[in-house]
Amino acid sequence: MRPIFQITALAACLLSGTAFANGSSVRNEPISPIQPIQITEPAKVELGKQLFFDPRLSMSGVISCNTCHNLSLGGTDNLKTSVGHRWRSGPVNSPTVFNSSLSIAQFWDGRAADLQEQAAGPIKADVEMAMPHTLAVGVIQSIPGYRSQFAAIYNDEQVSLNRITDAIARFEETLVTPNSRFDQWLLGDDTAISAQELAGYQLFKSHGCVACHNGPALGGTSFQKMGIIEPYNSSSPAQGRIAVTGKDADRFSFKVPTLRNVELTYPYFHDGEAETLAEAVAIMGKLQLGRNYSDQEIEDIVAFLNTLTGDRPAIELPLLPASVDGTHRPEPFK
Ligand code: HEC
Ligand code: HEC
Repeated sequence: MRPIFQITALAACLLSGTAFANGSSVRNEPISPIQPIQITEPAKVELGKQLFFDPRLSMSGVISCNTCHNLSLGGTDNLKTSVGHRWRSGPVNSPTVFNSSLSIAQFWDGRAADLQEQAAGPIKADVEMAMPHTLAVGVIQSIPGYRSQFAAIYNDEQVSLNRITDAIARFEETLVTPNSRFDQWLLGDDTAISAQELAGYQLFKSHGCVACHNGPALGGTSFQKMGIIEPYNSSSPAQGRIAVTGKDADRFSFKVPTLRNVELTYPYFHDGEAETLAEAVAIMGKLQLGRNYSDQEIEDIVAFLNTLTGDRPAIELPLLPASVDGTHRPEPFK
């Protein structure tokens, strides 16, 4: 018995002693802290930031990635479902771009493998920026201040969709939100969260929310059915993961959303139907775990979720390079 116990204890010790960037060790929990980002390609990140904020990538000339993933807010638009070109509204709620690099795939149904693949979608999507890719590339290519940056980063002036989405993705990877109060607690500071917030976390853990909402992002690690114990009735036509796999078992299966900064990313669920965090928690308890939460339990869990708001990156508004006479002009009503 004794040697086995020692080995187990050692393993647990190694686990809980996972080294963190700043040298401190982390509590042994199913959730790990967000690591601060080390920027290795600053010029590319800067280019990606400009493109993320550039409305000239849209047919209307007024919609940028930041319109629906507002970095001054929680990386979302806070609308039930997003509104894009010609006020068309899409079928689903805009997920946050903060910490999205930590997910196994992108979109609610995971149809894009990574951030670079994802970024090509919204540029041409009818309900988003409605800009054919060739036109988007042409616009960027026409702008000397962009061409010189592409030349410096990629060794030649050629602008391509691949390079545009590569730069955007590298910028998005910097959008992590470390140092939340919960992360401070994970890193050993007992005073970082209150007794109520800790009680909320204990419910979250012992009731099994962590079975799906785990890892550094408290989500993004798996696809799960919405409505396990009881079915979920949605007004949205979105069917989830079945759109990718074609398997009936994947109907209403969605990428588990991150709960980082969740106090900022209302309304909730893929259809934006839950207006408040309390409502979302009550529905999760009921549909996913078969629990009817008391007001006190909901308050405690919401208090815990509010400790997940981290330091959003301080972003200086980028100054975008000037168009020239030949740059394709916006067509807002096309
Ligand atoms: C009109 C609003 C709108 C615009 C503009 C827009 N997005 Fe989105 N974005 C959405 C919506 C809605 C989704 C979810 C779509 C889905 O899952 O089917 C999404 C999903 C994403 C995701 C996946 C996040 C996740 O957790 O799965 C990323 C990353 C993203 N967008 C980045 C971008 C970038 C980069 C741009 C600019 C090139 C952009 N978006 C432009 C609304 C928008
Ligand atoms: C079986 C997996 C599973 C369990 C268990 C689970 N969730 Fe979820 N959670 C999901 C999925 C999947 C979604 C997205 C559902 C959708 O959008 O339709 C989600 C969405 C959420 C959201 C909304 C986030 C957003 O940005 O839209 C919150 C808040 C949430 N869960 C909290 C909890 C809490 C609290 C518990 C425990 C009481 C819990 N979840 C248990 C899978 C799970």
